[in-house]
Amino acid sequence: MQEIVSSRRADATPHAASLIEGLRDIGYSLETAISDVIDNSITARARRIRIVTETFAEAPHIAILDDGEGMTEEELIAAMRPGSRNPLETRDDPDLGRFGLGMKSASFSQCRRLTVVSRKGGRTSAAVWDLDEVAERNEWAVRLPDDISGIPDAEKLGESGTLVLWEKLDRLSGGYAHNAAKRAEVINQRIAETERHLRLVFHRFMEEAKPLSISLNGRVLPPLDPFARKNPATIADPEERLSMIRGDVEIQSFTLPHHKQMGKMDWDDIAGPEGHLKSQGFYLYRGKRLILYGTWFGLCRQSELTKLSRVRIDIPNSMDADWKIDVKKSSAQLPPIVKDRLKRVIERIQDGSKRTYRKRGQKLVDHERLPMWNRIQADGQIRYRPNAEHPAFSDFAESLPPDLRRGFYNCIALVGASLPVETLHADMAGTAEEIVPDRVDEDTLVQAVQATLSVLMRSRKDIKEIIALMKDVDPFRSAWDDTQRIIATTLEASEQQ
Ligand SMILES: Nc1ncnc2c1ncn2[C@@H]1O[C@H](COP(=O)(O)OP(=O)(O)OP(=O)(O)O)[C@@H](O)[C@H]1O
Ligand SMILES: [Mg+2]
Repeated sequence: MQEIVSSRRADATPHAASLIEGLRDIGYSLETAISDVIDNSITARARRIRIVTETFAEAPHIAILDDGEGMTEEELIAAMRPGSRNPLETRDDPDLGRFGLGMKSASFSQCRRLTVVSRKGGRTSAAVWDLDEVAERNEWAVRLPDDISGIPDAEKLGESGTLVLWEKLDRLSGGYAHNAAKRAEVINQRIAETERHLRLVFHRFMEEAKPLSISLNGRVLPPLDPFARKNPATIADPEERLSMIRGDVEIQSFTLPHHKQMGKMDWDDIAGPEGHLKSQGFYLYRGKRLILYGTWFGLCRQSELTKLSRVRIDIPNSMDADWKIDVKKSSAQLPPIVKDRLKRVIERIQDGSKRTYRKRGQKLVDHERLPMWNRIQADGQIRYRPNAEHPAFSDFAESLPPDLRRGFYNCIALVGASLPVETLHADMAGTAEEIVPDRVDEDTLVQAVQATLSVLMRSRKDIKEIIALMKDVDPFRSAWDDTQRIIATTLEASEQQ
């Protein structure tokens, strides 16, 4: 390497005012910002975290209080420094931090004044970063108030713990700086939207034997397990471990229950606002804290076929550099070795879902079962065609005079040819489970049941077997109670004859 023989140096100390303003815009949302503050509370071994908001006041604020170990004044001053720790440092196992930035950058992304009050060993300390003061003085100096009595919510601190207080919520007011009622509405709405994120991101801590409790304005948030492990119909594959130089990666695949095996509320809760299609994929946890979810990392598409698949990946904080974890703890990149392994996991999931799908397909073309529709796969295309041989159609056709018969079959063929494929595609991509077979009226159902029964009874003796066959196909499956009743009356009538 060529030696630098002579050089000069010039002062390039960052301008406090501009750099601290720049910290505001590294892409936090309200939920990722609150989560970053909660990370610190968890690292400080808090068991109870309270989020308290005052939105109707002239000066609205958000407070996040914990009952963790707290900080001494010296520790607090160090903590207020942007870049308080070196990201290259090794951290303890349960430490959720990395950059020494989170508390500051998360707070400034939402507010212009950050006050931290902390109690440890019976002593209470406070420090304030006010961006307006920094701008005015242009120096990196935190203010240390002597009197904390005027600080909102400071009185809520227990024996030990920390309060992170956000005031001057300029980013949350939705443009309603002078309309207090409208502003409160906007802030409240945004806060309500964070709820699901917090329940999801910290669910593992909330599910522990001594659970972490996070409350929002007095209401304890229930954990949201994205794998619905409490539901007995969830399928969990065995856990796999991938040992790497800087730690182990654990991988476990889950298949969520079909929506009929889950209550509607649970189904919607687990789907989230974007729905199941967009929520499938990998769920990456760093030290049990969810970092990223609902993505296959570009390894495959989010398809209807794999909609119920979710794969948990667990990594320790020692692998941050390999995974390129960002300050917000909301993005990561796959190390190549892990990528190869995950590709195999995806292949397995896809094979599995294709098999069940094909099974269902086969059922549909199984002639024994007399489907109303046939699935015809040929030349890379799949067609659905009404089964003109179905007794409900053919028996009726038989009863028609021959000249009308052709017209009837033409009508059925037309229904098949005009299947609204594009609309179906669009619906399938959105909320596929909301697509259901149309209901038929009693008269139509009676005709179908009677025709089907008579044909099946001609070829089979066992009525139980016939009933089992019918139970699997529509329109009988979707109107099974009525179908059973009609079968019973039909059988009774035929016995009396
Ligand atoms: N609630 C808290 N209780 C106790 N100590 C805290 C609390 N919040 C912050 N600290 C201290 O302040 C330091 C700085 O926090 P900050 O979130 O800015 O950085 P970090 O957690 O070290 O790393 P990262 O930028 O990855 O979050 C922490 O390392 C911790 O020592
Ligand atoms: Mg932190």
